[in-house]
Amino acid sequence: MGHWTLDSIPWDRFDPKAVNPDVLCAIKASAMVEANGGDYGQYLCQVFHDDPEFQSVAREWAQEEIQHGQALGRWAQIADPAFDYEESLRRFTAGYKVPLDVEKSVRGSRSGELIARCIVETGTSTYYTALADATDEPVLKAICRQIAADEFRHYKLFYSHLKRYQDREGLGLWGRLKVVFGRIFESHDDELAYAFYAANRYGETYQRRRFSKEYARCAYPLYRRDHVERGIAMALKACGLNPTGKLSRGLVNAACGFLSFHAKRLNAGA
Ligand SMILES: [Fe+2]
Ligand SMILES: [Fe+2]
Repeated sequence: MGHWTLDSIPWDRFDPKAVNPDVLCAIKASAMVEANGGDYGQYLCQVFHDDPEFQSVAREWAQEEIQHGQALGRWAQIADPAFDYEESLRRFTAGYKVPLDVEKSVRGSRSGELIARCIVETGTSTYYTALADATDEPVLKAICRQIAADEFRHYKLFYSHLKRYQDREGLGLWGRLKVVFGRIFESHDDELAYAFYAANRYGETYQRRRFSKEYARCAYPLYRRDHVERGIAMALKACGLNPTGKLSRGLVNAACGFLSFHAKRLNAGA
C-alpha cells in the first residue's frame, strides 16, 4: 500500500470559495475511473496468471487506485453535497465493464500490456500534477499531490516489469508504437465519457462524443508546457525511445498546440 490513507488528508482545510466548477466535474468523473481499479487488478492477475510476483504487485496497485477514487469521491461530496459518490459509482460500473473473460492481454503480449499500463500511469501522473498545480483549493491540492506521487511510482513499477518481459518477448518498435498510439486514442473511448455521464449528467441521454468533449473541456486547460514535457518523456521512455531528443521536442510542440487549440474550441462551443 502507499504511504498515505484517507485520514492523512487535511479535510478540515477545505475552502468552498476555491472550488472551480469545471474542475469539480472532472474530479467526479476521475473518481469513477480510479475506483474501478479492482476490476483492472483482476484483469492483470488473469493476464499474468503464472507470475505470482507480478500478481501481488497488481493487487496492491489496484488497492491504491481504489483509494484514489475514494479520496476524490469524498472531496467531490464535500464540494457538492448533492453528489452521491457511491450511487454514481454503481451507475458507472453497471454501464462500463473491464473485459474480465480473458486469459491473454488485449494488447497482444505481456510487454504490450505493460507498455499500455505505463502510458496510463504517464497520463494520470501528468493529470494529477497539472490539477495540483492548477487548483487553489487546499484539500484538493493535497489529494492530487499524493495521487500524482503514487501514479509516478506506479509508472516506475510497471516499467521495471516491462523491462523483464521485454527481455523475454523482444517486442519490436512497431509493435510498441502500436500499443502506445492504441492506448492514447482509447482515451476517447467509453470509459471517461461514461464516467463523466454517470457522475455529472445521469438522467440525460448518453452520448459518447458529447461527454468525451465535456470532459476534455474541463481537463485540457489544466496542462502547462512542463506537464506535457514530462508526460512525453515518460511515454517515449516506455516505448524504448530517447525521452529528450528531437522527437521529444517535436511531440511536445504538437501536443501543446493540440491542447491549446482544442481547449479554445471547446470553450467557444460550451
Ligand atoms: Fe490512480
Ligand atoms: Fe496509478
